[in-house]
Amino acid sequence: MSKEFAAKESCIVPEGVFIIGTYDAAGVPNAMNAAWGIQSDHGEVTFFLAKHKTTENVKVTGAFTVAFATKDTLEIADYFGVETGRRVNKIEVAGCHVHKSAHVNAPIIEEFPVTLECTVKSYDDATGILVGTIVAQQAADSVLTDGKVDYDKLQPIIYDISTNTYRVIGPVVGKAFHDGLKLKQ
Ligand SMILES: Cc1cc2nc3c(=O)[nH]c(=O)nc-3n(C[C@H](O)[C@H](O)[C@H](O)COP(=O)(O)O)c2cc1C
Repeated sequence: MSKEFAAKESCIVPEGVFIIGTYDAAGVPNAMNAAWGIQSDHGEVTFFLAKHKTTENVKVTGAFTVAFATKDTLEIADYFGVETGRRVNKIEVAGCHVHKSAHVNAPIIEEFPVTLECTVKSYDDATGILVGTIVAQQAADSVLTDGKVDYDKLQPIIYDISTNTYRVIGPVVGKAFHDGLKLKQ
């Protein structure tokens, strides 16, 4: 037995929880929560966005950052998704600290341990598809092991759209491009 779900109940889980950081024309930093995003190539990310303060900003600056929301930053990350920078300075309200990326015209939010720095490759106002080129990535020493981001230390969260909940990613259970080789003929 199995159950069929209607189209509007059908979804992909997990989705990432990404924080897109931008500056506006006056240099005021902003951040939004975006779950509909992926790595679309080596060195490239793609997001699917409605019209937000964030999309206004990327049109002006041509740049954005992408921080990974974590268990420790969950509340701030959710706040960035339920308030708009058109109304308030979310960074200030959340008590976050920012500095400008050394590589792109976008803010790094210091409370988030891992951040990608991106230039805008393309943004289409009609579809809301934002494609970014990753220029660099910053990671706090506290989440590194042997010079690599340690996701057990970072504890990134994922979004479960079916229940509107966040979950922490689990332990390593296998090796990619390897464990399936046993079945290959
Ligand atoms: C869990 C979560 C995921 C979200 N994912 C997206 C998304 O992928 N695309 C989008 O356009 N809005 C998404 N939003 C909504 C925006 O984060 C929200 O509208 C925000 O207020 C926009 O901020 P801004 O106006 O300051 O740019 C999400 C919100 C939450 C809480």
